[in-house]
Amino acid sequence: MEQPNILVIHGPNLNLLGKREPDVYGKMTLDDINNLISDKALNLNCYVDIFQSNHEGEIVEKIQTAQGKFHGVIINPAAYTHTSVAIRDAVLAIDVPVIEVHLSNIYKREPFRHKSMLCDVVKGQICGLGAMGYCLALEAMVT
Ligand code: DQA
Repeated sequence: MEQPNILVIHGPNLNLLGKREPDVYGKMTLDDINNLISDKALNLNCYVDIFQSNHEGEIVEKIQTAQGKFHGVIINPAAYTHTSVAIRDAVLAIDVPVIEVHLSNIYKREPFRHKSMLCDVVKGQICGLGAMGYCLALEAMVT
């Protein structure tokens, strides 16, 4: 089988991981998490392209590039999870499986975080398992 090509997207404020609310999101920086994802990809013999943006439109455009180029998308839309019709529509517009990941358990937090605009249009959702969630999503995507 052709080597799977997976796109990983990190949403707004995730560039601040490590410094940002470490009691909620942990002490790992985004670089630490990306290294973990890259190691996992090596083990699973797949290729990953990792992207972070604080801008909704850039995330929409990146999702659009997945059609015909990537076998799957793993996305932590961060705060846009709870608000973005545009990101939901971008997921619906591509014929590529998408897995939603959150570091924290959004259902144990403030009520406004309990709603995901993506939860019913993605292949699956992983939350509350920290950085391991990305590795599990990668494994689910390629096996
Ligand atoms: C998050 C949860 C969101 O509610 C929050 O806005 C984030 C990160 C998570 O990974 O736990 O920025 O997506």
